[in-house]
Amino acid sequence: GRFISAPGPNDLLIQEGAVLVSSTDGHGIIEKTSWTAQNSKDALTEFGLSEKDVEVVEAHQNGFFFPGFIDTHIHAPQYPNVGIFGKSTLLDWLTTYTFPLEASIGDTGPAAETTSTTTTTTTNGAPSSPTNPQQPASKKRKLTPLPRAYKVYTKVVDRTLRNGTTTASYFATLSVPATNLLASIAHTRGQRAYIGRVCMDHPETCPDFYRDETPDQTIQHAIESIEYIQRLDPRGELLAPIVTPRFAPSCQAETLTRLGELALTRSLRVQTHISENKGEVELVSQLFPDRKNYTDVYDHAGLLTHRTILAHAIHLSNDEITTIAQRKSKISHCPASNSALGSGFCPVRKLLDAGLDVSLGTDVSGGYSVSILDSVRQTCLVSRQLGYVNGGEKRWNIGVTEGLWLATVGGARCVGMEDRLGGFEVGMLWDVQEVVLDEVDGDEDGDGKGQVDIFGWENWEERVDKWVWNGDDRNVRRVWVGGRLVHERG
Ligand code: GUN
Ligand code: FE
Repeated sequence: GRFISAPGPNDLLIQEGAVLVSSTDGHGIIEKTSWTAQNSKDALTEFGLSEKDVEVVEAHQNGFFFPGFIDTHIHAPQYPNVGIFGKSTLLDWLTTYTFPLEASIGDTGPAAETTSTTTTTTTNGAPSSPTNPQQPASKKRKLTPLPRAYKVYTKVVDRTLRNGTTTASYFATLSVPATNLLASIAHTRGQRAYIGRVCMDHPETCPDFYRDETPDQTIQHAIESIEYIQRLDPRGELLAPIVTPRFAPSCQAETLTRLGELALTRSLRVQTHISENKGEVELVSQLFPDRKNYTDVYDHAGLLTHRTILAHAIHLSNDEITTIAQRKSKISHCPASNSALGSGFCPVRKLLDAGLDVSLGTDVSGGYSVSILDSVRQTCLVSRQLGYVNGGEKRWNIGVTEGLWLATVGGARCVGMEDRLGGFEVGMLWDVQEVVLDEVDGDEDGDGKGQVDIFGWENWEERVDKWVWNGDDRNVRRVWVGGRLVHERG
């Protein structure tokens, strides 16, 4: 089929041919490529194989394979609130909408309520329970009574997968059992996921109903979840824990330092928020008067590493950008959220020019959409507004190709997977979405789900533009992670 990718910010690569993927077990990588084969028969000959050796998968003639999207910042428990934010901005949004919802996700209900007979089936047919992927269906047992978390987390993993998100870096909540349930659901469904139990224990900034009591308790809970997740996937390739201080204002200084030590000693990724909102920046300077700036709070705690993902990064000073670049920490740009909560314009071009790795996040539910395609679109739109307020300078503009590059290669760099994700090179994991646009001359397969009208005279670069501006999950026909088929459009 056709393979399209964005290996560089100005490089949309359109290839036709075939690749050979090693397996369908979730660890499948590209073993061979052929960019000369005209059809699958040619490809098999070139690979020295016959049809009985392999499962042949062909892309739709009006479609293409595209690297799976990488969402480097999403709050899974906030999914029920997408679109619900009224006129709030960050700090009142957190107290009004977000903390109460997150606190409720860990609520336990009677085991019998909705969960006692629930089992899930993995897409490869193996039955399993959401709390124990290995457990056979015949041994039904009462599941962790977390009906709300189960409902929300199942939905969010399903929705992101059907939108082509093959890797997601999730914030969960303070609840260890609910966080572990999210890890288990993502792992069972086959999504590549980094899962963070959220840490917050500052008595002045966190509500009593939603915080840990002491740094000791915070660290203990963080470790409990980290160890559970590492038991689920000891290789840490499909599923891994990520140290998650919510943001500087929500943690005591000692907690931040101890989380920094935890990440260092166990070689873990870190994720948090930085400089999203001016009131937040002011709050940080009040809470940490001894630190130079917001970035220095994290740097002092040892939280700025090459494995750290910082979301938003809107109001950073030049000094802060330099420090982040020196530490090789990564940025998750969340344009939909920044517009929805009125947080400001993230100067993406300036961050890229400073040598930072930048990726895209949905930031559900500060962001109203689970779709990274939406984030690409919003990245383009916001960059133009930023160009406008900077005197019409075109250099701020981010186009479709650069947006797609941020959503794939950028994401891969930010999660330390640049050799494994984001393209169709030998050795890379088969984390891929098959995108299908409308039929030329009408809806030939009759499914009515093409969504993007193609007239036939557009070249493939123009078709990709049309996909980015008008596409949605109806254009995602199939999704694979590590060679395993994890979504197929119904
Ligand atoms: N800062 C601290 N917590 C959050 C959150 O949940 N969402 C966003 N967008 N910013 C935050
Ligand atoms: Fe966020």
